[in-house]
Amino acid sequence: MSERLMTVVSQLLHEVELRLAAAAKADTPFLSEAASQITLAGGKRFRATLVILAALLGETAELNVSPEKARRVVDAAVVVELTHVASLYHDDVMDEALLRRGVASANARFGNTVAILTGDFLFAQASAVVAGLGTQFVALQARTFAQLVQGQIAELRGAGANENPLTHYYQVVTDKTASLIQTSALFGGLIAGLSEPQLAALGRFGEQIGVVFQLRDDLIDIISDVAGKDPGTDLRAGPPTLPVLLLRDSDNPADLELYARILRTLAPDEVPAVLTQLRSHPVIDQARAQIAALAAAARTELAALPDTPARAELHRLCDEATTRVA
Ligand code: IPE
Ligand code: IPE
Ligand code: MG
Ligand code: MG
Repeated sequence: MSERLMTVVSQLLHEVELRLAAAAKADTPFLSEAASQITLAGGKRFRATLVILAALLGETAELNVSPEKARRVVDAAVVVELTHVASLYHDDVMDEALLRRGVASANARFGNTVAILTGDFLFAQASAVVAGLGTQFVALQARTFAQLVQGQIAELRGAGANENPLTHYYQVVTDKTASLIQTSALFGGLIAGLSEPQLAALGRFGEQIGVVFQLRDDLIDIISDVAGKDPGTDLRAGPPTLPVLLLRDSDNPADLELYARILRTLAPDEVPAVLTQLRSHPVIDQARAQIAALAAAARTELAALPDTPARAELHRLCDEATTRVA
C-alpha cells in the first residue's frame, strides 16, 4: 500500500473505531458493557476497510478526500461493522460459541437472551446511522440483513434431502457472509460515484471475495488454533463446511465414514481427534485450491475499475486471501 493510501485508510479507520465505541454506549451501564463486549474486542475491520477502499477507487495518488466524503465513508463503514457485529452476537448464540475475538462471547458472559437483545440494539444503532446516508443505502442495508438472516436459517436447517450439500453450502455462504461484504464494496462504490457498469463489477467482486472470505474462515476453523475462536466449532454445530464436504468425493471408505461421523455431529470430546485427522488430509489442500481459484476470479472483476492506488490494494487483498491460508 502506498504511504499516502495507508495514512488515509488508517485515519478513516481510527474515526470508525471512535464511532463504534460511541454506538456501543446505551442508557444503562449494563447494556453498554454487553454491547462493548464484542464490538470493542478488536476484529479485523475487513468490511470497514472494504468500504473505505471502494470509496477511494476514484481518487488518484494525492488522495485529497473532502471532509463531506470522509464523513459519508466513515458513516458507511460504521453501518457495515455494526451490522456485522450484531450478526456475530446472534451467530454465537446459534453456534453456542464460547469465544469471540479472543474474549468470552456475549452469550457465554451474559446468557443467550441478553446476547440476542444486544445484537438487536447494535442493529438499531446501525439503522440510525444508515438513515443519514439516504434511502438507497437504507434499502441496500435492509435487503442485505434479510439475506444474511436467510443464509443463517438455511445453514441451521441444512441441505434438504434432494439438495446437493455443496450447492446448499455455497448458497449459505453467499447469503450469510458474502451479502454484507458485497454491500460494503457497494457502499464505497456509491460514495465514490462510480458508473453503473463499474458498480456491477464491484458488486460481483464483493460477492466473490465475500465467498472467499467465508471459505477461508471455514478452513481456519479446522487448521488454526490462533483465530480468537475455538477451533472445530463448525464440527460441533451446523452443516458441514467445504473441507468436510470434499470428503464426500473421496473413493476411500475411511473418508466416507469420517464424513458420515461428522454429519452426525461430534461431541466436544471427539473434536480434537477429528481435527488432527482432517489437518493432515488432502481435503485441506483441495479447499485451498478452491479458495485460490475463487480469489483469482474476483481479481479479474477489478479490471473494470479505475486504475488507482485503492484498486491496487484490492488486488493485494485477493492475493492475501490466498496466501493467508497457504
Ligand atoms: C467472522 O467475520 C464471521 C464470518 C463471516 C467469517 P470476521 O472474520 O470478519 O470477524 P472479525 O470482524 O474480524 O472478528
Ligand atoms: C458467521 O459464520 C456468519 C455470520 C455471522 C453471518 P460462522 O459461524 O462461520 O462464523 P464464525 O466462525 O463463528 O466467526
Ligand atoms: Mg454460524
Ligand atoms: Mg459461528
